Amino acid sequence: MTAEREFAQTAHTMLSALMHSTGASEGVLFVFIEKPSMLNSIAAQGFALMPDPSVIPLLPRHVHALSTTQGAVLLSKQSYDTFLSSNGNVAPELFKCLAPLRVGGKLVGAVALGRREGESLYDEEGLQSLDLLCHYVGLAVQNHALTQTLAQRVAENLRLMASLHGFYDNALEAFATAIDVKHVNIHGHSIRVGRYAAAIGDAMGMDANDTGALRSAGYLHDIGKVAVDKRLFGKPGSLDPEEFQEMADHTTVGHQIVSGVNFPWPRIPEVVRWHHERADGSGYPDGLRNEDVPIQARIVALADTFDAMTSPRPYREPISLGATLNEIVRMTPLKFDPSAVQALLVQIRRDAVGSNRVPFLEDRSAGNLAPPDVDHLAATLQHKLTNGRSYLT
Ligand SMILES: [Fe+2]
Repeated sequence: MTAEREFAQTAHTMLSALMHSTGASEGVLFVFIEKPSMLNSIAAQGFALMPDPSVIPLLPRHVHALSTTQGAVLLSKQSYDTFLSSNGNVAPELFKCLAPLRVGGKLVGAVALGRREGESLYDEEGLQSLDLLCHYVGLAVQNHALTQTLAQRVAENLRLMASLHGFYDNALEAFATAIDVKHVNIHGHSIRVGRYAAAIGDAMGMDANDTGALRSAGYLHDIGKVAVDKRLFGKPGSLDPEEFQEMADHTTVGHQIVSGVNFPWPRIPEVVRWHHERADGSGYPDGLRNEDVPIQARIVALADTFDAMTSPRPYREPISLGATLNEIVRMTPLKFDPSAVQALLVQIRRDAVGSNRVPFLEDRSAGNLAPPDVDHLAATLQHKLTNGRSYLT
């Protein structure tokens, strides 16, 4: 009964056992379905004509009778109507004996037996062994129903989540574009940070749900910039302290904006607030260190820096990919998360050997790094992380 196999097979086996114990030559095993109340056959044996599935709708009084009767009952012309309706596709008169299946007082199904071998009547002993077995059959039926409902609910939730995610993705992409429209110099920045962050997470072994969350967090990380004076984005020189503060406040302002939103992913508010924090505590707004910042925010921080360096600024040309990565490795682990930087190098190397289905870098010509150059950077990073010691693994 508890074996892992097709439930139809299990139902058949259980019915055989029930019939054998009572000497029945005809029998049906039903599951009880609520809303609308009915008995639905899952196994039948011996009957010359039995629809598959056979269905017997039940009225509340039938459900009540099946839920409260003491064990198996013999059916007669007078008692059919007490337990079963004749509105289904099978005539109740075919059944001579009926045993409800219950778990914790709740109806989960029923066993209906037809004629007995040699046309003899069901005896007390047969009914008792039927009751005994029905206890276990009820549990098995209930278990199956629960598993099915659970699987259905999980599938439904996943479908709902997928459609929600699709909806969010599109809406957030539009939002990211709107944030970047503020100034031509950051055009496309948020979209790229979202893409980079998701790809870094992917190379770190995260699943689709987590990388989706990273993409959205990347799209929204600079949302607080909607409150920053447009003039500051185009300023050619460096910002004075007051201007810098206004720019830095985009983290806390953004945090306020997204804190009230129930995103289907956690961590968005943290990423928005902490994507300018650095491992050594030199970042803003809270000066947090290392693991005090969630990994999602550390990944977006890296993606943000990577895109800022490889994009043009009012006061400088874009920095080359090689120089950018050199600088990032130089600042790791002091400023950046080493595992995230490693994952970034993995993605750049995949671009270099052409094994990325979707290229990591939008502009392939920017990826003018040869695989040995990337390997050299990875080795440098590894060397720094082990303090110059090498370990045999
Ligand atoms: Fe930012």
